[in-house]
Amino acid sequence: MYNFEYRNPVKIIFGKGSIPKVADEIPENAKILMTYGGGSIKRTGVYDQVKNALKNFDLFEFGGIEPNPHYETCMKAVELIKNEKIDFLLAVGGGSVIDATKFIAAGALYPGKDPWDFFVQRYIIEPDKAIPFGAVLTLPATGSEMNGNAVITRISTQEKLAFGSPKVLPQFSILDPECVFTLPDRQVANGIVDAFVHVMEQYLTFPVNSPLQDRFAEGILLTLVEEGPKVIANRNDYEAAANFMWSATLALNGLIATGVPQDWGTHMIGHELTAYHGIDHARTLAIVLPGIMQIKRQSKKEKILQYGERIWGITEGTDDERIDKTIAKTVDFFESMGVPCTLPEYDVPVETIAKIKERFKERESKLGENKDIGYQEVEAILKSRL
Ligand code: NZQ
Ligand code: ZN
Repeated sequence: MYNFEYRNPVKIIFGKGSIPKVADEIPENAKILMTYGGGSIKRTGVYDQVKNALKNFDLFEFGGIEPNPHYETCMKAVELIKNEKIDFLLAVGGGSVIDATKFIAAGALYPGKDPWDFFVQRYIIEPDKAIPFGAVLTLPATGSEMNGNAVITRISTQEKLAFGSPKVLPQFSILDPECVFTLPDRQVANGIVDAFVHVMEQYLTFPVNSPLQDRFAEGILLTLVEEGPKVIANRNDYEAAANFMWSATLALNGLIATGVPQDWGTHMIGHELTAYHGIDHARTLAIVLPGIMQIKRQSKKEKILQYGERIWGITEGTDDERIDKTIAKTVDFFESMGVPCTLPEYDVPVETIAKIKERFKERESKLGENKDIGYQEVEAILKSRL
């Protein structure tokens, strides 16, 4: 096992009926900006619950944050915060609203010219402070409610980039599984696939003698495989919704990454598909992951065999046959959630592969746990998904 440092201070308030507890978590004299998306919270009643709970607070609102949140929109919120001297933010929504709020929280206090620096100068310029914020999560998927990452899209340049900092960890996150009841099938499927692939990025690498982390990871995968279909079949199954919600949070709160190598190639390539074609984040992962498993079948061999055996019960055949079956099982699972796994199914033209290849070439970035996925491998991975 590798050395590691781990600290996760995010307070989680979990369960049915817990949204009104938001009032206990925010300082009494705070000047709050509540951030939200395209209006689902108004239809689902979450907006009213939050407004009621915070009726004695000084509360401003900023709605209209898009899925795959835009830098351009976030900068409008930064301006509002500066004008109104807001000192606490409350994100109410899914990963997009929470990510946007992180960027806004750090962007509002950034002394430089443009907080886009966090993305283009990642690891060189990081926020040293951010406005404190909390979250009311309405969509289990990203783990954003318990991590310090944010992914933002800049429309003018068709870029979708990530940054991470402990300064943008939420003070608290409220997770009420009843929020799942109002999700459309597509968002449930996306959430299951996103959480599943988060685990895979931290698990499907190479062995470092970390049986505990492996079993944590496998526990989350198995829970998603068992509970996911129940949520798809019956949106009002509270127990299944609760298990799904907690699995998605634990998939990306740093715990299963402790002391192990991490890949993240699927995400980095997937972000480009969203940047060029607006494909839902999780769906890009369902396209790319089978490609990475295929192209990296040698370097990932031991973990693919372990994953195939422990998650899908695949024990028969040569190593190569078992790997093929394991990739097929993974694709079957995503497809059973209603998520297609090839590029043509999303009408992605073959020219996009060349554009993405060029981007990775320019960035000179090497992806994967072995830093051996360069632009040529990116091309091979995407071509394997045609
Ligand atoms: O915008 P509104 O009207 O609120 O509707 C949303 C949106 O259209 C709707 N929705 C949310 N909760 C609902 C609901 N509809 C009915 N009932 C509810 N309870 O669902 C739609 C999708 O919401 P969004 O927040 O975009 O989805 P998700 O949570 O999947 O977030 C995706 C974003 O997170 C980033 C992705 O790249 C993408 O931009 N990620 C963030 C990560 C992180 N911070 O660690 C990691 C992930 O890998 C991911 O990259
Ligand atoms: Zn993801």
